[in-house]
Amino acid sequence: MSLLKRIEAAGVAAPRPGAGPAGAPVPDAPPDAASPGSQHSAPPPIAPPSGPARPLPTSVISPARDRALQLNRDLKSRVKARLIAELDPSMDLSRHDEVRQRLQVLFDQIVETESVILTRAERQRLFEELAADVIGFGPIEPLLQDPTVTEVMVNGPHKVYVERRGKLTLADAEFEDDEHVRRIIDRIVSPLGRHVDESSPICDARLPDGSRVNIVIPPISLIGPVITIRKFSKTPLTVDDLIRFGSLTREVAEFLKACVVARLNIVVSGGTGSGKTTLLDVLSTFIPDDERIITVEDAAELQLRQDHWVRLETRPANIEGKGAVTMRDCVRACLRMRPERIVVGECRGGEALDMLQAMNTGHDGSLTTGHANSPRDMLSRLETMVLMAGMDLPVRAIREQIASAVDLIVQQSRLRDGSRKVTQITEVQGMEGDTIVLQDIFTFEQTGFEGGRIIGSVRPTGVRPKFMPKLEDAGISLPASVFGISERFF
Ligand SMILES: Nc1ncnc2c1ncn2[C@@H]1O[C@H](COP(=O)(O)OP(=O)(O)OP(=O)(O)O)[C@@H](O)[C@H]1O
Ligand SMILES: [Mg+2]
Repeated sequence: MSLLKRIEAAGVAAPRPGAGPAGAPVPDAPPDAASPGSQHSAPPPIAPPSGPARPLPTSVISPARDRALQLNRDLKSRVKARLIAELDPSMDLSRHDEVRQRLQVLFDQIVETESVILTRAERQRLFEELAADVIGFGPIEPLLQDPTVTEVMVNGPHKVYVERRGKLTLADAEFEDDEHVRRIIDRIVSPLGRHVDESSPICDARLPDGSRVNIVIPPISLIGPVITIRKFSKTPLTVDDLIRFGSLTREVAEFLKACVVARLNIVVSGGTGSGKTTLLDVLSTFIPDDERIITVEDAAELQLRQDHWVRLETRPANIEGKGAVTMRDCVRACLRMRPERIVVGECRGGEALDMLQAMNTGHDGSLTTGHANSPRDMLSRLETMVLMAGMDLPVRAIREQIASAVDLIVQQSRLRDGSRKVTQITEVQGMEGDTIVLQDIFTFEQTGFEGGRIIGSVRPTGVRPKFMPKLEDAGISLPASVFGISERFF
């Protein structure tokens, strides 16, 4: 019998007045169906903070159950308060194993003095929850440890969503209240010398493992503190993984490799979370080992395998609003660092102008990503970004810059079924009048829909790109079949 049921069965006395929040979650509701093999295969929760955040109608929660939930919370907060009080504050929390051992000893002592009897599983579960709160990232710690979770989204204290295999689901995790989330936020940002409060309510940060974190708190967020974590993959996806996932075909991979080796300038375009950075990382693996690569990123995510790699990362302004180093600053600096390849994580603003100028002035073979829903849309975005540089350039001049700088746009999309795929590979052919001419070389063809999955892949359009001579100059010959053309017409 779980602790909760035991307390319920014992009909323990009423809780402190006003302590029980309305619509408290039910602890033994089924775990997140989409989380097989997750960390939650552990024993059932003894306390509600880890129950799913789907409150049952008030009428379904009996007063006895409500009381039991509150007693669980009380037990947890009592043990936690004593743990924190008795833990040596000067302990170096970075010595994880040591702190954990010390916590375990203290925890055992404290639980002995509590009158509630816990099973071994309940005790372990309570310890893990408290340890996560004291030295980890609280209720989201198991999700961060779970390799099947790729993204964690905290929408206020009571709703935590995760992404698994491209699908978003409500997770089996919950914070006590806004304050609890704020404590975890402090734990994330304070080692970085950062601070999040009402006067600076938005913050980008990184976890020690490299995961990218965005934080927005009230008054900007209207639903309580919001944390979005893009987990850092310890083993970055490779081109073979992308082929295996059906994100692209082997022919397309060969074609993209040829384009990178032949120093074409490539922009990966896509929506939020569509896999742009991942594809950029994979494209970067095609850069020959003997070239000096400089990467510029807002939050360093790329994991290049080459040895001769210089990494630059932007820096936000300090508390006095000084010391910011922007993408533009970094791109300009990198031009003076003798780059043979420039890889810009994402162009969002004026740095696009510096990037295009670099591409047009001998730094060919540059790679970047941008946020757009189609290659044509990417061109408009680039135009807008160049205007953000504050130079009063006529639109035609900007278009000419774009048309002569960019050779290829690779569109990456997150499809309705959650899968990420290359959906368009488009050549930028030049200008015709005031318009940039685009030509699709590959487009995505859906052939079916099975078991909730979109079936299809990126197929050649039968058009041979105009930049083929550049590939040939680099000594690369691709079979005509890559472009869906018969050898006779190639
Ligand atoms: N082809 C793919 N197949 C499956 N998962 C993928 C693929 N590409 C990327 N992912 C996963 O999708 C998530 C988002 O990827 P990524 O960070 O590359 O997206 P993004 O477009 O750069 O996002 P953002 O717009 O936030 O910068 C990551 O967890 C990554 O591991
Ligand atoms: Mg990205």
